[in-house]
Amino acid sequence: DWTMAAYREEMIGKIRAQVGSGRVICGLSGGVDSAVAAVLIHEAIGDQLTCVFVDHGLMRKGEADQVVSLFRGHYNIPLVHVDASDKFIGELAGVSDPERKRKIIGRLFVEVFEEEAKKIGGAGFLAQGTLYPDVIESVSFSGGPSVTIKSHHNVGGLPERMNMKLVEPLRELFKDEVRALGRELGLPDAFVGRHPFPGPGLAIRCPGEVTPEKLAILREADAIYLDEIRKAGLYDTIWQAFAVLTDVRTVGVMGDGRTYDRVLALRAVTSVDGMTADFYSFDMAFLGRTATRIINEVRGINRVTYDITSKPPGTIEWE
Ligand code: XMP
Repeated sequence: DWTMAAYREEMIGKIRAQVGSGRVICGLSGGVDSAVAAVLIHEAIGDQLTCVFVDHGLMRKGEADQVVSLFRGHYNIPLVHVDASDKFIGELAGVSDPERKRKIIGRLFVEVFEEEAKKIGGAGFLAQGTLYPDVIESVSFSGGPSVTIKSHHNVGGLPERMNMKLVEPLRELFKDEVRALGRELGLPDAFVGRHPFPGPGLAIRCPGEVTPEKLAILREADAIYLDEIRKAGLYDTIWQAFAVLTDVRTVGVMGDGRTYDRVLALRAVTSVDGMTADFYSFDMAFLGRTATRIINEVRGINRVTYDITSKPPGTIEWE
């Protein structure tokens, strides 16, 4: 892709010009955007870049390890992996309001990140994988209504507090362009094509209180669902697919016994930008097969439903 090859060269020049011999810290979220930003910056300035991955323990199954091995193993980019899951799970205990969960996660994220950034020391620049839609959204919100539907977390206030300048090499790009750039930079297809994942992670896919038990059940069920989607060759057609573990318990039968377990909801949508979305029309055989596997393989779930709400009126996430 010649446009992305040109963009890559242009941005490498701009990053070098902005940063000079300074040091840059880049927060990795596990998502595509921050990964592409990090690899691009690493190409421009090499080991003047340090990546910090704050692991909140709310990632999908196996995802944290994938990020670490991709950066350390494949790219050999200096990466600080902070396992802060106990801290996050601890502070989320007993909290069920969605916006409070987001606030707690956002605050802890900044705290942990700031602590690590201080340890690294001497970095004058903070890199972020901000995209063009994020830029427009924050502009329209600041001039528009004071109520946002969902607060998206970022490192708000951190650059000023730490007297750091922002490096945002993806500010002019849309999501599909970031993916093209990622491929241009040699990121594996499976990584670049990953569905968007919200900053607060699985915490907003466990409506109600977040507990280690619920997270463990959700992780297993979600992995089976995505496995079936990949096997059916549908992963790339779908914008986002995920499971939601509800607090509702229903009665079921298993062998000779009665069960009283949780209801899992499956969600899959198509979308261009996440602003509007249509629920995905799986065939019933797919849904039946997936539900059977989940109920057979995951203890704690005895009923599976499929969410057929589009956006609007629903949002993509349940919280
Ligand atoms: P909704 O649920 O608002 O989601 O229709 C639209 C897109 O945004 C993602 N999302 C978030 N991303 N922090 C994030 O980084 C958040 O708090 C958050 N809430 C929703 C969602 O996954 C979808 O892609």
